[in-house]
Amino acid sequence: MKKIYILDTTLRDGEQVPGAKLNLNEKIRIAKQLELLGVDYIEAGFPSSSRGDLEAVRAVSKILVKPVVTGLARAVKADIDQVYEGVKNAQKPMIHIVLGTSDIHLEKKFGKSTDQVLEMGVEAVKYAKTLLPDVQYSTEDASRSDFEYLWRTIGAVVKAGATIINVPDTVGYAVPEEFGELIKKINERLKNLNDKVLLSVHCHNDLGMATANTLAAVKNGADKVECTINGIGERAGNAALEEVVMGLYVRQNYYDAFSEINTKQIMNTSKMVSSLMGLDVQVNKAITGDNAFAHSSGIHQDGLLKSRAVYEIIDPRDIGLEDMELILTARSGRHALRNTIEKMGFTGLQEDEFEIVHQKFLELADKKKEVYYHDLYYIMQDLWGNEAETQDSKKAKIYELINYQIISSDIFPSASVRIKCAGDIFVKTSSGNGPVDALYTAIKEIVNLPVTLLEYKTSSITQGKEAMGRVRVTVSFADKIYTSTSTDVDTLKASALAFINCINQIEIEIV
Ligand code: KIV
Ligand code: ZN
Repeated sequence: MKKIYILDTTLRDGEQVPGAKLNLNEKIRIAKQLELLGVDYIEAGFPSSSRGDLEAVRAVSKILVKPVVTGLARAVKADIDQVYEGVKNAQKPMIHIVLGTSDIHLEKKFGKSTDQVLEMGVEAVKYAKTLLPDVQYSTEDASRSDFEYLWRTIGAVVKAGATIINVPDTVGYAVPEEFGELIKKINERLKNLNDKVLLSVHCHNDLGMATANTLAAVKNGADKVECTINGIGERAGNAALEEVVMGLYVRQNYYDAFSEINTKQIMNTSKMVSSLMGLDVQVNKAITGDNAFAHSSGIHQDGLLKSRAVYEIIDPRDIGLEDMELILTARSGRHALRNTIEKMGFTGLQEDEFEIVHQKFLELADKKKEVYYHDLYYIMQDLWGNEAETQDSKKAKIYELINYQIISSDIFPSASVRIKCAGDIFVKTSSGNGPVDALYTAIKEIVNLPVTLLEYKTSSITQGKEAMGRVRVTVSFADKIYTSTSTDVDTLKASALAFINCINQIEIEIV
C-alpha cells in the first residue's frame, strides 16, 4: 500500500480568500494544529507578497518540528530569496516555485516565447538549488497546457534539480477521467526519468470536482496531494483536506493508498480554521458540515437505531466528532477549562493569556449558562484577533473600547462611545441612520480616519438560547481592504469591537 503525502496550503491558497486574513498568532495556532493533524508539508505563505507573510513563514518555520515547511515564490530570484529567508530555519525547509505552462498564461501573463518561459523556470530551479536541496516546481495551469510543452518543462526542471513536480488544475477546469489520464502519462515518463522525484497535484473546485480530481490523480500515480482545510481557497476553493483524506481512509482498498493524517484531529482543525478565519462551513459540507452526520428522515433514523452501518460510512468518532460534545458551565473550574481548550488544539497558553480566556469564559457562562466548544473558539479568536501582531503594532495607536450606549429609535438613533488609546480616554456622541451607523460615526470621529464601511454582516452562531452574535466588518482605507470579525452575546458590542479591530489594523499599517 502506498503512502500519499499531504501538503496543506490553508495558510497560503486558503488565506487568499478575501476577508480571511489572519494575524501572526492565528497563523501560528493553525500551523501547530496542522502539525497535530499530521500533515507532511505546510505551505505557510507567499513571503514576497507582504512583510506579514514573510514574518509568518519565518515564525511557522521556527516552531514546527515534523512537517516540511515551504513558501511560494514566482520564478524570480527576489521571490526565491524571500522564501529562503522565511524557511531557512525550519527543520525541513523547501522552496516552492510556480510558473505557468499554458498558452494563455504564456501569452497573456508573460508575453514571452515558450522557450523563454521554460528557461526562466530552469534558471529559477537552479538558483533555488544553490540555497536548499528541496525544491518543488508547479506548472501553473497544467490542465490547460499543451502536453508536450508541459512535459518538456517538467523534464527540464527535473534535470535542473526539482525534487517535486506539482501539477495544478489552477482554474478547476479538469474532469476526473481526463485529469487521471494526464497524471498517469506524466507519472510514467517522470518515473522513467527520475524515480526519486515526487509527483504532486493541486486542484481547484470551480466545477465542484477538486476532491474527485485529486483522488483520480492518486489512483493514477500521484504521490502527493495539496489541499486546504474546509476546502477554502481562491474562488470556489481547493480540494478539501478532510474529503481527500477520508476518501482515502474509507476507500483504502480501492485506492491502495493511505495518508498519515490523524483523522481524529479533523473536526478540531476544521473548527479552528473556520472560527479564526471567520468563514462558516456550509452545513451540508462533506465530513465537517454540521449536518454531515445528522439523520433526519424517519426511515434513516430507524435504520441507524438497528445498526449505524446501515446509513453511516464513517464513524463520527474517527474524525473526532463525538469527543466534542463537552459542555462547560460557570462551575466547571479553571482546570476543566484549560483541559478543554488544550483538547481543542490551543496548547501552550501563557498564564496571562489563560487569565483573559478564563474571565471571558466566566462572563459568557454567566450570560449563557452552557458554554460549548463553539463559544470557546470565538473567545480564542477574540484573544488572538486583538493581540498586538508585530514590532510595528507596538508603535501604532491601538484603540480599546471601554463602553458604549445606544439609543435606538426610528426618529433619531444615536450612540455614545468611550474609547481608550495610549492612556487617553475619548468620548463622543453621534447620530446616524440607525444604531450601528450612529455607533460607527462616533468611533470614526474619535479615530479621525476616513474609512469607508464596505460590508457589515451579522450572524448568530453557537447553540443555546443566548446564542453569540458574530459581526464581520469590511472597510476600505487608502485603496486597501480590511476585515475583522468579533463575537459577543451582545451584537452591538461585537459591532463596535469588529470596527475598532479594523481601525487598529489600519493604524498598525500606517506607523
Ligand atoms: O492554483 C495554483 O496553480 C496554485 C499554484 C501556486 C500551485 O496555487
Ligand atoms: Zn491554487
